[in-house]
Amino acid sequence: MLWTENITLRFGGVTALDNVSVEVRRGEILGIIGPNGAGKTSLLNVITGVYKPQRGRVYFKGRDITGLKPHQRITLGLSRTFQHSELFHSMTVLENIMVRLHPWTRGSILEKALWAFRAKRWEVEARERAEHVIDLLDLHEHRHSPIGALPPGIQKKVDLAGALAQNPEVVLMDEPMAGLSKEEKEDIVRAIIETSETMHTTMVLIEHDMEVVTDVCDRVVVMDYGKVIFEGPPHEAVADERVRKAYLGE
Ligand SMILES: Nc1ncnc2c1ncn2[C@@H]1O[C@H](COP(=O)(O)OP(=O)(O)O)[C@@H](O)[C@H]1O
Ligand SMILES: [Mg+2]
Repeated sequence: MLWTENITLRFGGVTALDNVSVEVRRGEILGIIGPNGAGKTSLLNVITGVYKPQRGRVYFKGRDITGLKPHQRITLGLSRTFQHSELFHSMTVLENIMVRLHPWTRGSILEKALWAFRAKRWEVEARERAEHVIDLLDLHEHRHSPIGALPPGIQKKVDLAGALAQNPEVVLMDEPMAGLSKEEKEDIVRAIIETSETMHTTMVLIEHDMEVVTDVCDRVVVMDYGKVIFEGPPHEAVADERVRKAYLGE
């Protein structure tokens, strides 16, 4: 469904990604793990169009999307969540989800002008989609609370809700459980599994917690120093010698 071919990404003298080829299969939950600085976020940024790689291509549903802008990739069905919150703290949960659907944040001037005429229709449609994901992720009671006043676990769920409201075929999540309590983590895990099952969304999960990855993911990609060092089932990753050395510090 989604794959990269020989991606190389450099920042000055730092090679963040070194010839990375990975594939994401339709319907799966794919884990991406690896130590800090391994290149996980960089890979996600290349896939979503935030970074332009010096080398390599990105394909989505059979189409070469390497040259597309981030908003064009969202329209094709590629959404993401963020490692560091990009939510608007004084806005409510509902508003934070709706803003992710706002057509004025993307498209040409002509498209924006057209949308201005259709503002009412947009609002009705955006609200419907937002309410749907609020339902799915059980965010009812917080709907009208400003996001800044809510616990981190809820904020992470709102980020996921915003991505899901975009109606993606693939959602890429950058450490959605980092810094959360055990209960909050379990809540996000539940949300991920439920989304995968009910919406059949293909999911890519960057995650540190090996236990979570083994529980949730169908397959796992392990990165170290910008390279893919393993791709396969989680239980094999745990047993792999290179993975143990790089990741588990053995
Ligand atoms: N915008 C950037 N500018 C310069 N260096 C970067 C940038 N983004 C990432 N890097 C570097 O690329 C490497 C990989 O980083 P990153 O993709 O964030 O790793 P991870 O998400 O696995 O922790 C690191 O050495 C990091 O310092
Ligand atoms: Mg990262």
